[in-house]
Amino acid sequence: MDIRINKSKELKKKPQDESKLGFGKIFTDHMFVVEYDEGEGWHDARIQPLENFSLHPASSVFHYGQEIFEGAKAYRREDGEIQVFRLMDNCERMVNSAIRSSMPALDPEFQYEAILKLINLDRDWVPHSEGTSLYLRPTMISSTPALGAHSAHNFIYFVICSPSGSYYPNGMKPIRIRIEPFYARSVKGGMGRAKAGGNYAASFKATKEAQDAGFEQVLWLDGVYKKYVQEVGAMNIMFVIDGVIVTPELGDTILPGITRASVLQLAADLGYELEERSISVDEIFEAHAAGRLSESFGTGTAAVISPVGEYSYQDKSIVLNNNEIGPVAQRFYDLLIGIQFGTVEDRFGWTNVVPRS
Ligand code: PLP
Ligand code: COI
Repeated sequence: MDIRINKSKELKKKPQDESKLGFGKIFTDHMFVVEYDEGEGWHDARIQPLENFSLHPASSVFHYGQEIFEGAKAYRREDGEIQVFRLMDNCERMVNSAIRSSMPALDPEFQYEAILKLINLDRDWVPHSEGTSLYLRPTMISSTPALGAHSAHNFIYFVICSPSGSYYPNGMKPIRIRIEPFYARSVKGGMGRAKAGGNYAASFKATKEAQDAGFEQVLWLDGVYKKYVQEVGAMNIMFVIDGVIVTPELGDTILPGITRASVLQLAADLGYELEERSISVDEIFEAHAAGRLSESFGTGTAAVISPVGEYSYQDKSIVLNNNEIGPVAQRFYDLLIGIQFGTVEDRFGWTNVVPRS
């Protein structure tokens, strides 16, 4: 399928002060769009000026939330070239999310090609300052204007780009996390493995309650026993116990994070001992009491590596590593950021330069 390019006649002013970018608030000049109609398949792929959609109010995305998305980043290197990090993994995960959400798959190679073309056109929007990047948001929505509660027949896949800084307002400062004792984000057989908008909608009430109580995020527990840790709102989670990196095993209920996979591969390469297994809240508190839990940190595209300074569960709370960034979190942050920005050798073939064409 060809990709038509319709350039914007009027380019917007780029942000002057990159220290004020925040996360996902400013958008570039262009977007990629491709449409799907049952019987016809994907068609009308184009890069066009970023603009509002016009959708019928009965469109299924508004009623049944049939929507999935991805999150990736493009980075400006010191030599001025722009590169992406493991973008093909995002495109493949989008296909897995589509299958779970009864939506049509869009060929990952085609997604990849379209995203690189879009970044190339908007390359001047990739910010220059340390810790900033161009956040990429591939999304698929259902657009059939009919109220029957079943899978839609029409879909729109689009990609928007946002020059962004740190996901958390305080950057790498360790965050306070409440372990959620009541609400569940996902259960076995559910949607937790898909990057579906509904998973996030389901998490906002608990997150708001935690934030009102002074925490930044919640750590979800399994939906059945309310005992085993799963992941944080926008990150996978890792613990360092007796020097071993321990993280919940993948399954139906958590997102298979690309940053998680990268940290595990880097850790194995560096000779760390790794365990992907069930971890109970009791184990975390007991390990802390015995002085065996030295650090914990979240991993994610938006958040990169985010150290945890405190866990609170019901009436108990523990402070980790004196509320300071731990050496393991710092090491993986430096390595990942170095590979992503091209200052550390990419021995795993995770990065690709965006061609100028
Ligand atoms: N878990 C959730 C719920 C997320 O939203 C994210 C962010 O994308 C992650 C984990 C981390 O995934 P990744 O490292 O692929 O960004
Ligand atoms: C990402 O890290 O890319 C995410 O998708 C997190 C997002 C929910 C803000």
